[in-house]
Amino acid sequence: MSPAPRRPFFCGNWKLNGSLAESVALATDVRNGVATLRGVDVVVAPSFTALHAVAKRLESESAGPVGVAAQNCHWEDKGAFTGEVSASQLADVGCKYVILGHSERRQLFGELDAGVNLKARAALRAGLAPIICVGETLAERDAGETLGRVQAQLEAAVADVSEADLARCLIAYEPVWAIGTGRTATPGQAQEVHAFIRARLAARHPGLAASLRILYGGSVKPDNVRALMAEVDVDGGLVGGASLKAESFVRMVKEGS
Ligand code: PGA
Repeated sequence: MSPAPRRPFFCGNWKLNGSLAESVALATDVRNGVATLRGVDVVVAPSFTALHAVAKRLESESAGPVGVAAQNCHWEDKGAFTGEVSASQLADVGCKYVILGHSERRQLFGELDAGVNLKARAALRAGLAPIICVGETLAERDAGETLGRVQAQLEAAVADVSEADLARCLIAYEPVWAIGTGRTATPGQAQEVHAFIRARLAARHPGLAASLRILYGGSVKPDNVRALMAEVDVDGGLVGGASLKAESFVRMVKEGS
């Protein structure tokens, strides 16, 4: 049986950047830049404050479907959780995706594997597709713990997620040492971990793993995306710095798809 074709998927993670006007302008430029492309999924992830306006802008004009992702969510639907935003609120303002377990959340805000799992399940209940991030630190890589760390993060994140729900998830492999550092994993390093992730998923869900999309993240740029995408298990990118200018993000999507 030949593997299911996997449509390339690129998500620009804008992190803590952009006023409302800047975010809407960037989303508009991205949408215009990719309007003629077919066979690729393009998503932007603005700050919470710009999600509604960006989603409105992207849905209200006809050219090219660019999706909207949030960068985090809470695991409860409602209640006394000051400062949190629920997955159903994100769906309500037009999000289709949510990035979960990003290494900055894990490292700077103490997010744990169990919380990522709760958030992923909440996102799925709300109809969002989680983009679940996993990846090792430099110390873990140097200690030969890369695959063990990735396996632990992955298995915790998708615990108690049904096969039908898992089919809606995306996994992003983001080596922490490559994020925002300009130091990209080599295509071979990325492929090794992507193949491992797919094999772990296949062990639990043999019928599904071939169609799940596994993104690479960590200093993806227009000039290295093609080599990464040439690897058989690399299906797209989660892109930080290079997504903050429409020109470089669009060029990267074109190079990579
Ligand atoms: P970067 O960030 O592309 O700036 O390395 C990627 C990410 O954090 O998702």
